[in-house]
Amino acid sequence: MITHSDQLSLFADKTSPIQEDTVKSWGTFKDSLRAPVHRWFTYPAGFSYKAVAHSFERFGIVKGMSVYDPFMGSGTTNVTAKAMGIDSVGAEAHPFVYEIAKAKMEWEVDKKAIRAFIDHLNINFESRYNDLNGDADFSLCDHFPELVLKCYKKETLGKLLTLKKIYDDYEFHQRESMFIFVVLTALLREISSAATGWPYIAPKKEKITSEDKDALLEFNALAISMLDDLTYIKRQADEEYIKSKHRLIFGSSTDVSAYLSNESVNHVFTSPPYLNNFDYSDRTRLELYFWGFAKNWKDITDKVRSRLMTSATTQISRNDPKYLLDEEIKTNSPEIARFIQDAANKLSELRKVKGGKKSYDLMVIGYFNDIYKVIKEVYRVLKPDSSALFVLGDSAPYGVHIPTDRLIGEIGCSIGFKSYSLEILRKRGDKWKANPQRHGVSLQESIVILKKE
Ligand SMILES: C[S@@+](CC[C@H](N)C(=O)[O-])C[C@H]1O[C@@H](n2cnc3c(N)ncnc32)[C@H](O)[C@@H]1O
Repeated sequence: MITHSDQLSLFADKTSPIQEDTVKSWGTFKDSLRAPVHRWFTYPAGFSYKAVAHSFERFGIVKGMSVYDPFMGSGTTNVTAKAMGIDSVGAEAHPFVYEIAKAKMEWEVDKKAIRAFIDHLNINFESRYNDLNGDADFSLCDHFPELVLKCYKKETLGKLLTLKKIYDDYEFHQRESMFIFVVLTALLREISSAATGWPYIAPKKEKITSEDKDALLEFNALAISMLDDLTYIKRQADEEYIKSKHRLIFGSSTDVSAYLSNESVNHVFTSPPYLNNFDYSDRTRLELYFWGFAKNWKDITDKVRSRLMTSATTQISRNDPKYLLDEEIKTNSPEIARFIQDAANKLSELRKVKGGKKSYDLMVIGYFNDIYKVIKEVYRVLKPDSSALFVLGDSAPYGVHIPTDRLIGEIGCSIGFKSYSLEILRKRGDKWKANPQRHGVSLQESIVILKKE
């Protein structure tokens, strides 16, 4: 019987002790910030490309086999698979992030065409920029929402708009267009005068390091270094990488039946959103606004936020029936359902007395309703005798500990997986311990390994 007071020792302890070498082999997210192609967009990936390679080696995934990442993000799993000549599938529900992954998977970019574009840009830049400024009716406010205006000095934003306009007007082939799209995207956070590092965009905070960065010069340098990255990754890749097949799905991994048949992949490596109130649509507002994917908060909600699985309170409308725990979970996994419902009930009580009145209660329900569907799909598409690895952290909203890693393991087993184990990557949140507003629960990041018979 599960009780609130017993939350930390909820399920039988199936955790393997932390082995120093195991932890090292999984690497850290920082590896990807330095690695060619992976570094093109510093999205919070959840894991290092080294972790993906390690997983393939450890579970015997080789050329001719295929791997699936149901939360593809910017494509770390797929880029790594391609470099090893392994087939891959990825699903991503965020429209802008999906475009980034697509571009990172296009390695046969025509360098001559890119150089021709860079020349064209440099020849025309000054006159296009002067045209904008000379136009009495021109105002940056007509082009960008306030957040974007606040993140740049006027001159820099004028130059960024000039780059965008020249890009929009140029006749590209698709590959080259996608490549330049990522170059321009990478430039956005690089030359912003506001603190635009991940995860938060803080327009009021000054970032001194970008003071002298000129949009055009930085664009030129980035484009060339990214072309070099392509040369490098292809040189390092398995010589048959070009024959590998990759399918990137724009859609929710809660249902991939239209794209993936039963028992069609050999391995799953993924990092789902953590249950930690991180709103992926909000964190990418700068890019969404710059490119015109969205113009305001409502747009972001309609076009992005509502497509993603629940992991943030900003996604929740309290009257929506989707925040009742699914009957299927109650029937098939009663113990887990009871635990989730108990935690939600407790959070619902705490909400009444805590500042911010956050809907953590419904966030927890929504999260597990969604992740349950994803795990079911993962089970369906995996071939027999294979594994699915989920990299994620647990959390403690309002101090109520939710052992997301174990719950995912237990859900997996109730769906049909033969067993699960956990490998702890790191302890998290210690720096908050001195803060009296924070809970004292010690959190961790781990890898849940689900095994299918
Ligand atoms: C931790 S990130 C994964 C990052 C990824 N490992 C990478 O290399 O960039 C989780 C991702 O899941 C995506 N996501 C959220 N809900 C989704 C859903 N229902 N289907 C597919 N992707 C979703 C988010 O947009 C986010 O990009």
